[in-house]
Amino acid sequence: MEHINNYINKHKDRFINELIELLKIPSISADPNYKQDVLNCADAVAKSMENAGADNIEICETPGYPIVYAEKIIDPNLPTVLVYGHYDVQPADPLELWNSGPFEPIIKKTDIHPEGAIFARGACDDKGQFFMHVKSFELMMKTDTLPCNVKFMIEGEEEVGSENLGVFVQSNKERLECDAILISDTGIIANDTPSITTGLKGLSYLEVEVTGPNRDLHSGLYGGAVANPINILCEMIAKMKDEKNHIAIPGFYDNVIELSNEERADIARAPFSIDKYKAALDLSDIHGEEGYSTMERTGIRPTLDVNGIWGGYTGEGAKTVIASKAYAKISMRLVPNQSDKEITKLFSDYFKSIAPKSVKVKVTPHHGGEPYVSPTDIPAYQAASKAMETTYRKKPVPVRSGGSIPIVALFEKELGVKSILMGFGLDSDAIHSPNEHFGIFNYLKGIETIPYFFTNFSKEF
Ligand code: BES
Ligand code: MN
Ligand code: MN
Repeated sequence: MEHINNYINKHKDRFINELIELLKIPSISADPNYKQDVLNCADAVAKSMENAGADNIEICETPGYPIVYAEKIIDPNLPTVLVYGHYDVQPADPLELWNSGPFEPIIKKTDIHPEGAIFARGACDDKGQFFMHVKSFELMMKTDTLPCNVKFMIEGEEEVGSENLGVFVQSNKERLECDAILISDTGIIANDTPSITTGLKGLSYLEVEVTGPNRDLHSGLYGGAVANPINILCEMIAKMKDEKNHIAIPGFYDNVIELSNEERADIARAPFSIDKYKAALDLSDIHGEEGYSTMERTGIRPTLDVNGIWGGYTGEGAKTVIASKAYAKISMRLVPNQSDKEITKLFSDYFKSIAPKSVKVKVTPHHGGEPYVSPTDIPAYQAASKAMETTYRKKPVPVRSGGSIPIVALFEKELGVKSILMGFGLDSDAIHSPNEHFGIFNYLKGIETIPYFFTNFSKEF
């Protein structure tokens, strides 16, 4: 399909510049100080849909940030693809670790991206990736090659749990009716090793608070005689795993499905180098649950991690003090058949049961989400696989990811439609981290691949 490369070659500079403009908007959904920017970003997304040729564009208000909806229905008898993405981004801190401003996008070459990468918060997660769809749609519209109907739903609260999108989906089932959901918010193994994400993890996220004495105390006068909540919290966290790095919460693994040897052999077939993995992260050794490979640990095994821990004195110099309170944010990534509500309850019960009488504990659940797996024998997966095979000249490998997009399980439940996770980012693109970036190669390859998905899907459906 020559028109695809012709159109991209002619317009690629503009495609890059338009993405750069979008990346200048600090649409941080977690921080209320950026409220106006998030709203402005929704406007910019709607405007880009209009310019690309979409109809019925609507900025759908919610109790939180709006959802941008747009569509192009060319023939109700043709299949419909629903494209989902998110225009909100993670907070940019720690700012001092960025080599350039998180909202001042610049293009730099790296070892992995010799053709250059755009550095900015949201470049890969997810502005650069959902914008590929807007540009592919523009391409299909302008070259008169859109083969089926398309609906866009780009939300502004993915990074904070998509609560309002859940409600929107439940109350807009008819409007969102579709035959496949296509999402680019994940990655590939490497630029010469395409892959399609076939699994996402569920999530249970909680905050714990441990209270010792009713006020901060002099650590000499009281030290050793009362419970120090920071010490106790550390001991309690240590009891979350055993010496084999199995999670010690009773019942935690009860519903986990063990994979067959065949399925495990499939996972082992995906190209992966432990030496490169260690080198990329400056690690002298890896760490994880005994009996499982790194790919299995991230892809098919549930995990538990402390995301943040604080309390007591952390300022300049020393202060001799026993804090009254200590806190931690803890997440568990869940695999198929584990329910986030059940796991949250199991954690909470266990955490309370291991607390000594000398402290009080409080557990507050944050957002959660159910895991998701996509079969590979459905028309939409085949359409994506063939599309990537065409543009990368290599058949993509199915890979289960350790990341979560909780709304995907809800799409399946409410709309009865499977999602295809055809992402183009790399693990090294530093999403959620300082110096996030997205390769120009990846961006343009995405724009090139998506139209093939549409034609393949329209034919196979
Ligand atoms: N796009 C990511 C999820 C992702 C990235 C999945 C790479 C697979 C590969 C998404 O924006 C994200 O960050 N999700 C959160 C969960 C959310 C509830 C905050 C996550 O995985 O931590
Ligand atoms: Mn994302
Ligand atoms: Mn994210």
